[in-house]
Amino acid sequence: MTTPPDGASAPTIPAEARRRVEPLARAERIWLVAGVSLIVAFMALTGFDLFHNLGTNSHGTSTVAPDDVAKTAPFDRPGTYRAADGTWDAVVVAYAFGFLPREDLVVPVGAKVRFHVASVDVVHGFQIPGETNVNLMVIPGHVSETTQTFRHPGRFLILCHEYCGSGHHFMTGHIRVVAKGEDPAKPPPLEDGTRATSSVQPGAMEHGAGMDHMEMGA
Ligand code: CUA
Repeated sequence: MTTPPDGASAPTIPAEARRRVEPLARAERIWLVAGVSLIVAFMALTGFDLFHNLGTNSHGTSTVAPDDVAKTAPFDRPGTYRAADGTWDAVVVAYAFGFLPREDLVVPVGAKVRFHVASVDVVHGFQIPGETNVNLMVIPGHVSETTQTFRHPGRFLILCHEYCGSGHHFMTGHIRVVAKGEDPAKPPPLEDGTRATSSVQPGAMEHGAGMDHMEMGA
């Protein structure tokens, strides 16, 4: 670089060029921060559920191979069970095209019910619309779980709401919520871990149970 001749000042930067390197205007900073914050917020919202649940499906952390569902506890005996602390477990097997047990699940009103749902074949849904927000995607290999307390007695519909094949729209079940003191047709025994509802033996699902179910639903 050459030294400027005597008397010459440092090269002057034209005013337009100077403006080009000026710091961001206040409005620009605000919008930049707002935009980046929104991106971070959206990523956090969608990422939270993933990381919170350790990347598992539908809040369940356990897995079961579809071929082993029928012989793996508790899915070898689908139904509802009363736990020692007074809460309930509802064990459900989803298959094309129905749910086991094929009888109504039966739980008492006001009790905390943990649903455990596994599929023996393809992706199914498990939804109890209207009365609850129970809405599970039942992915083969995963145990889908959620908890629900039923506030009102009644018989509520269970729907498969994931398209699973030609009989998808027949794939329904029911849960019966009985009032305190009410005797369900099959009274839930109070012993810990005793099945409260009878159920079709898991093998039934391999013998055209889906077709039976379709006729029942028609
Ligand atoms: Cu199962 Cu749709």
